Amino acid sequence: MKFDTKVVRSGISPDPSTGAIVPPIYQSATYVLDEVGKDKGYDYTRASNPTREVLENNLAALDGGKHGICFSSGMAAVDSIMKLFKSGDHIICSDDVYGGVSRLYNNLLVNYDLTFTYVNSSNPQEVEDAIQDNTKLIWIETPTNPLLKVTDLDAMGKIAKKHNILYGVDSTFSTPALLRPLEFGADITMHSTTKYLSGHNQIIGGVLITNDNELGEKFKFIQKTVGAVPSPFDCWLTLLGIKTLSLRMTRHCENAQAIAEFLEAHSKVERVTFPGLPSHPQHDIAKDQMDGFSGMISMELKGGISAGISLMNGLELCSLAESLGAVETMITHPATMTHAAMTPEARQEAGVSDGLVRLSVGLEAPDDLWADLEQGLAAL
Ligand SMILES: Cc1ncc(COP(=O)(O)O)c(C=O)c1O
Repeated sequence: MKFDTKVVRSGISPDPSTGAIVPPIYQSATYVLDEVGKDKGYDYTRASNPTREVLENNLAALDGGKHGICFSSGMAAVDSIMKLFKSGDHIICSDDVYGGVSRLYNNLLVNYDLTFTYVNSSNPQEVEDAIQDNTKLIWIETPTNPLLKVTDLDAMGKIAKKHNILYGVDSTFSTPALLRPLEFGADITMHSTTKYLSGHNQIIGGVLITNDNELGEKFKFIQKTVGAVPSPFDCWLTLLGIKTLSLRMTRHCENAQAIAEFLEAHSKVERVTFPGLPSHPQHDIAKDQMDGFSGMISMELKGGISAGISLMNGLELCSLAESLGAVETMITHPATMTHAAMTPEARQEAGVSDGLVRLSVGLEAPDDLWADLEQGLAAL
């Protein structure tokens, strides 16, 4: 089945009791047993829920996986992976990982004697050099938030296999429409479904996908034991969003390419980072492993932080907002918003400068976005 068909159909069949073409919202905490020891496949929604199951099967199919396990947020999904480990274990992580992930690692999980090494995973050798006897996970984000660094997933898969280390990829920025990390040897693919997958700024959610039966069972156990599960309604809204994923990603990619080229040529812009520009350091890798460059752009303005703030405050159509990957174009200042939890030194070390501005290009007409950015830049 082609990807565009899977988006609309995979895991979704008419509701067995009514024939409803749209999976119903099974908004029930518990289920009545036929008799002691005999249920209809469900007993309690923390453990499993029919609406959630449809979403899990659909998401697993999109990423080419056997098991999809949904969580109440992307962060709950990331945290659930960490429950596989024990004190003394070591994790290697992309250095430009989403700020919420490094906050989880550095502020909470270090208390459980887990240790972390952050490396520039765009250089596979740096990852291999960081491997220790106790390394249990290589955690890659590609493209990264917010610097849009791209990792060669195939090279990383070979390293993980050679050293027999679990290999997970946060593929939130790419979505399965553009990249399927399991095809490159990843053991786990993770998405914040809050972003492009649901796509309309309507829910918070996350998912883990794997082909490994044992890992799938462990994640299901963690899901039911910890209980960080999405509501049936959120699952239903996510399913609705996914139906247009292919169409939306095509348009996100086209709009972002046009805006990135416009910004790169603009006299007030110092530097634009977008994997679809030949100037991006890993443009060739992105071209090889992705089916499009997604909708995220980072830029540095000539006037640094003050110009960045003036631009963000001066835009009328682009919304100044924390999130990304939705139909509306959103502009973010990582230093004061998404990455505020990091110390200024840590941000500097990670390359997240105070003047960095991140743009999540939405589905508006590109001419309108241009006009808004043009007027904002002209006022600087
Ligand atoms: C790349 C990436 N991973 C994970 C997350 C966390 O997802 P959530 O906000 O759904 O918990 C985010 C949130 O922005 C993100 O951008």
